[in-house]
Amino acid sequence: MGYRAEYNSWKANPEGWWMRAADAIDWDVAPTKALHDLGDDLYEWFADAKVNTCWNAVDRHVEQGRGDQAAIIYDSPITDTKSRVTYNELLEQVSGLAGALAAKGVGMGDRVIIYMPMVPEALVAMLACARIGAVHSVVFGGFAAHELAVRIDDCTPKAIIAASCGLEPGRVVEYKPLLDGAIAQADHTPDFTVILQRSQHPCEMGAADVDWHDFQKGTSLADCVPVAGNHPAYILYTSGTTGAPKGVVRHTAGHLVALNWTMKNIYQVEPGDVFWAASDVGWVVGHSYICYAPLIHGNTTVVFEGKPVGTPDAGTFWRVISEHKVRSFFTAPTAIRAVKREDPKGLERQKYDLSCLRALYLAGERADPDTIEWARDMLGVPVYDHWWQTETGFTIAGNPAGLEALPVKVGSPTVAMPGFDVQILDDGGHPVAPGELGAIAIKLPLPPGTLPTLWNAGDRFRKSYLTTFPGYYETGDAGMMDEDGYLYIMARTDDVINVAGHRLSTGAMEEVLAGHPDVAECAVVGVSDQLKGQAPVGLLCLTTGVNRPHDEIVGECVKRVRDQIGPVAAFKQAVVVDRLPKTRSGKILRGTVVKIADNEAFKMPATIDDPVILDEIKEALQTLGYAKG
Ligand code: COA
Ligand code: AMP
Repeated sequence: MGYRAEYNSWKANPEGWWMRAADAIDWDVAPTKALHDLGDDLYEWFADAKVNTCWNAVDRHVEQGRGDQAAIIYDSPITDTKSRVTYNELLEQVSGLAGALAAKGVGMGDRVIIYMPMVPEALVAMLACARIGAVHSVVFGGFAAHELAVRIDDCTPKAIIAASCGLEPGRVVEYKPLLDGAIAQADHTPDFTVILQRSQHPCEMGAADVDWHDFQKGTSLADCVPVAGNHPAYILYTSGTTGAPKGVVRHTAGHLVALNWTMKNIYQVEPGDVFWAASDVGWVVGHSYICYAPLIHGNTTVVFEGKPVGTPDAGTFWRVISEHKVRSFFTAPTAIRAVKREDPKGLERQKYDLSCLRALYLAGERADPDTIEWARDMLGVPVYDHWWQTETGFTIAGNPAGLEALPVKVGSPTVAMPGFDVQILDDGGHPVAPGELGAIAIKLPLPPGTLPTLWNAGDRFRKSYLTTFPGYYETGDAGMMDEDGYLYIMARTDDVINVAGHRLSTGAMEEVLAGHPDVAECAVVGVSDQLKGQAPVGLLCLTTGVNRPHDEIVGECVKRVRDQIGPVAAFKQAVVVDRLPKTRSGKILRGTVVKIADNEAFKMPATIDDPVILDEIKEALQTLGYAKG
């Protein structure tokens, strides 16, 4: 069946369509129906089923004879390590850790925070939680202690599983002080912490810490515990408009069904094929496509610990693809831009045989035409942009290449996937004509695998997503759809920005800056950046009477954001202004600031980190009277 027929088949009978997709999952108790309408625009999928994610991602493959196949290939140029974990070994490791967690009293519904770098043990920890019905919340290693503390207080974990360190080029990220700092800041205290000691930087153990290996001594292996279809598989925090992150909840059964469907139909892989998503387990792409989907589908997943450039060179991606025979590769446009900047002629690429590769998939931020075309020419395979969000957990719009490869229109992530009735709405909530801009919304119910609510924040869920357009989920993105149903994602409608494929809240950065004693008022905007897509730039109005050097204050502000949110915020630039552009009612005109700054940023082939751009932005603000000369 081609795409249109499949989409129409879903539309004609959504529940029947999803029940058929559900046949690919091993159920302890099969669902009697697909959709449960809870009223008030709330829905759950396969809620009356019983199932276990870990069984579907690990045990069943061993049972079906895939035990000796690699489940995980670990390739870490940053530590110069390569290894493989077969499905047999994964089963042993996961049931060992799950058994130890259970012996310490972690059970059904208990939360466990995972704070780990890109090592196979991160996946083992996620799956061990799933095995015993515990709910994990993975926190990205680039966040600072405060962000970790906020998550600890929100999901009140019984345990934390962490590594002693992460590794960034040229520096060791010591996790332990961050972890200790977070636990000290948080009101909630977990019962214990399991630490994976890494030889690159082992840490001192505290009274509540237990070593990953010692922890499992003397405990027995745990079996899979079936959970209800609507049991939370995990909570993943993502940036919203305010400083408080949103805890996106993922229900177990829908997650299994939807992710499994995508592997063949979108990513074109068969069980046994090697699939690689070069992201991080701390992001949704890492949850869905480093850990869960490839394993649920019986693929081999690559856990890559390194950077696209500099570890050791711009050929790293191509080496990994070639060496491990990667069939489908998924990364963020930023990563490709980084490679292109370093090796525009593709000299590194020439060194590798990439005949194994079938397609490159891009997501996480807008894919600019230059990047798409360069990658396509370089790799000689189709490059598929696809659009999704932490909230949805999988593709809203993409090219269903496994079903039918649709023509690529550069600049569009292609068409809505079955499950998503995507509409472009005007301010009044009415659909607009093809080609017209509007807010992108999805008609309820959302498909299986998408968020049913926010953790501890049902009201916020409703307010953030369901109230602006009754009967729809508000995506927070604006764009248009053409006559062929191709979507174009143009901008966020809120204060979320996307820096190097990382979703960040300008509101959160403003909260931190406003805490500086010399800052009276501030705004943070996302300015176009040639490498990272967007980069945050701060506008600071100082408290009357402050006459310290501006550079000093800016430096303190930059440090403050790094210390409180983390290096991943990539907040490096701010300008001191006399006043912020505002409406009469006092609302900051962020759009105006972005336009002024973008105008300058586009004039030169540089990134925001180059001070010359900042000078230009400042000059433009001065001309408009927002800053003194
Ligand atoms: N732990 C600790 N620090 C981290 C981190 C982690 N896991 N990840 C990033 N950081 C740090 C970086 O070291 C950097 O620190 P610095 O300011 O001291 O240099 C800072 O956070 C900003 O990181 P980033 O914006 O990623 O810039 P970068 O220069 O380190 O790397 C790219 C640039 C393009 C190579 C990188 O952003 C990349 O590979 N992006 C792809 C993104 C991606 O996979 N997104 C997921 C969605 S698909
Ligand atoms: P995240 O939740 O981190 O995955 O970020 C989701 C947001 O990233 C979306 O709401 C978009 O704003 C942006 N985004 C993701 N994929 C794309 C894409 N293919 N094109 C344009 N924007 C994208």
